[in-house]
Amino acid sequence: MSTYKAQVLREAGKPLVLEHREIPVPKSGEALVHLQFAALNHRDLWMRKGAYGNMPGLPCVLGSDGFGIVEAVGSETNKSWIGSSVVIFPSLDWGENDLAPGPAWRILGVPDAGTFAEYIIVPVTQLFAAPKNLSPEEAASLPLAGVTAHRSLFQRGNLKAGEKVLITGIGGGTAQFLLQFAVAAGAEVWVTSRSQEKIEAAKKLGAKGGVLYTSPSWAEDLVKAAGSFDLCVDSAAGSGWAGICEALKPGGRLVFFGATRGAPEVPMRKAFFKQIDIRGTAMGSARDFREMLSFVQVHNIKPVIDSVFPLEQIEDAMQRMDQGLQTGKIILKIS
Ligand SMILES: NC(=O)c1ccc[n+]([C@@H]2O[C@H](COP(=O)([O-])OP(=O)(O)OC[C@H]3O[C@@H](n4cnc5c(N)ncnc54)[C@H](OP(=O)(O)O)[C@@H]3O)[C@@H](O)[C@H]2O)c1
Repeated sequence: MSTYKAQVLREAGKPLVLEHREIPVPKSGEALVHLQFAALNHRDLWMRKGAYGNMPGLPCVLGSDGFGIVEAVGSETNKSWIGSSVVIFPSLDWGENDLAPGPAWRILGVPDAGTFAEYIIVPVTQLFAAPKNLSPEEAASLPLAGVTAHRSLFQRGNLKAGEKVLITGIGGGTAQFLLQFAVAAGAEVWVTSRSQEKIEAAKKLGAKGGVLYTSPSWAEDLVKAAGSFDLCVDSAAGSGWAGICEALKPGGRLVFFGATRGAPEVPMRKAFFKQIDIRGTAMGSARDFREMLSFVQVHNIKPVIDSVFPLEQIEDAMQRMDQGLQTGKIILKIS
């Protein structure tokens, strides 16, 4: 086969187009990976909807998460990778500073060709051996959401065993990793969701309980049931921050990495009088990624797979995410 299929975003806001492209040859320092599974992130949906802001590099293959087998490398020195099962680290050119990425940092999948394709070329520095405790689908689900969750809790959230943690919107792909990682680290975890069913599923994964964020009194109800929180990790923002600041202890930490509901409405007086520590985070460095992969293996974390769609049915997969029907990661089967 000299061509491969790829789901390409030609124009922001328009459906993806399945294209056939010529299989590229890796240059020095690069690897050609034959992808078997990819996973959807909300970023892909924002891009598909034209809601991601400035997007240089279109048309471009979407996708940040992938599992596959290394088929070729560009340099003799990297030959040992050939035949290896790998996950791809989707932070490109993070830079030297673990505290924050440098100016060249990019997320795999626009402007660099992403993982919603049979083949991808990436620098060998982005290759990591897939965790042995995971199936190919599970491994594909891990990179972007896993590293974001791990950095949120441990690097930015300074989570300690025994602390009380609130994770909002538990149906989300990243939220599910937050839950599993926080439980494995010995925290007491509470969740919010639009759905009681998703809360019940979270309890089976070790959450102590949860409330529906659709109720106007969700924060009061939560504090009544759980007491106050040391840490909240949120990616919904919007009007939810009033309730979160209510639910946090004085001196509590709010770590955030997204704004699914739009810009946060910050209850300023509450936030400063309670000395709330608001910390942003995004994805992670190579060190975060390595630590996350090790954590997943040490604690035998099994990612929650919501559903698997063939690559050709990516629009259906995106619709499922857009409607918030998922609990966990939506996977694309490629080959
Ligand atoms: N900065 C970064 O590095 C980074 C990394 C990962 C994700 N993100 C961002 O984080 C967000 C989540 O990403 P994802 O890939 O995990 O998305 P996802 O799988 O689509 O999950 C989104 C979840 O948001 C929750 N949600 C919706 N409305 C909510 C509300 N009013 N209050 C609380 N939760 C609400 C829903 O939870 P329920 O289904 O339980 O209702 C939904 O499942 C997106 O905005 C994404 O762009 C950023």
